[in-house]
Amino acid sequence: MSSLGQMVFYSDFDDFNVWKEALQHCLPELEIVHSTAVTHPEKVHYALVWKPPQGFFARFDNLKLVINLGAGVDSLVGRPDLPDLPITRLSDPNMARMMAGYVLFAVLRYAREIPYFEQAQQEPAWSYRHPRSPEDVHVGVLGLGELGAYAATELVRQGFTVHGWSRSQKEIEGVCCSYGTAALPAFLGQCETIVVMLPLTPETRGLLDEHHLNLLPRGANIINVSRGEVIVEDALINALKTGQIGQATLDVFTKEPLPLDSPLWAMQQVLITPHLASVALPLSSSPQIVDNVLRICGGKPVLHQIEVMRGY
Ligand SMILES: NC(=O)c1ccc[n+]([C@@H]2O[C@H](COP(=O)([O-])OP(=O)(O)OC[C@H]3O[C@@H](n4cnc5c(N)ncnc54)[C@H](OP(=O)(O)O)[C@@H]3O)[C@@H](O)[C@H]2O)c1
Repeated sequence: MSSLGQMVFYSDFDDFNVWKEALQHCLPELEIVHSTAVTHPEKVHYALVWKPPQGFFARFDNLKLVINLGAGVDSLVGRPDLPDLPITRLSDPNMARMMAGYVLFAVLRYAREIPYFEQAQQEPAWSYRHPRSPEDVHVGVLGLGELGAYAATELVRQGFTVHGWSRSQKEIEGVCCSYGTAALPAFLGQCETIVVMLPLTPETRGLLDEHHLNLLPRGANIINVSRGEVIVEDALINALKTGQIGQATLDVFTKEPLPLDSPLWAMQQVLITPHLASVALPLSSSPQIVDNVLRICGGKPVLHQIEVMRGY
């Protein structure tokens, strides 16, 4: 095995020292250097990055691997300065569990009509509404990847009737799966709540436009935890105004931070969270990062590699 070399770290969101400690706990020989402290760029063989600035990779001539510090790779794949190297992403069941927790919270909130009771409390009013049986609630999950499949399975465990939609055929116990563009209208037509868990790619950008939003049953709920640009935000705002979309839980937006003049802020039927449905977890993600470093050193193929041309 050749010498390990250094790993350069860049993220404006994640704590360098926590990541450094977690990674070195797994592989003490690996030197982790913050991007601002690199003195010998030629020693850098790996880059662990979240949204690095344009031109970031140019000075690292001996780079062998780029690790995206998260699950969504849309901010990396379209870049003109992306080196022609294996690009991997984090694939961590604990990250999927955290995401599933957010999705469950949001779906249950609608299924148990919590916004209705919050409003009644404001009056105040003891306003009884008999709870519905969970199997009568049809929930659709768009995107059945690592995060979507986990969330869909958790929704099944709660007794909901769960529909799933992806690019290729999937089989997930208890989930009624469909795939491909032709199946999308029928999928949307049967879901009172949809959860968007697609990656942002050229195919999914603007996928949920006015036409597709109108295919949902009137008053449907939308939960978006993927990327803001998968939904045409103006179309969503209009649909919320007309009542075509009843309620929305939005963790991601076309522009982040969501501009203060966005009409979404003032909408009572919208719950806004600042892009934190799930985050990269140093302790549980470090072993797979280190494993890929060792694979590179041993000349073996890496795991969790993304397909740059496909966009995810
Ligand atoms: N809000 C947050 O805090 C947060 C945190 C992490 C991730 N995310 C977002 O969540 C996204 C999903 O993550 P993941 O790990 O589950 O991704 P993933 O494992 O790559 O899965 C993506 C899923 O989307 C499907 N898909 C892709 N393009 C499609 C298309 N054109 N039509 C239909 N289905 C399509 C894929 O279909 P196939 O199975 O057929 O390939 C797959 O089922 C990430 O890309 C990121 O944007 C958000």
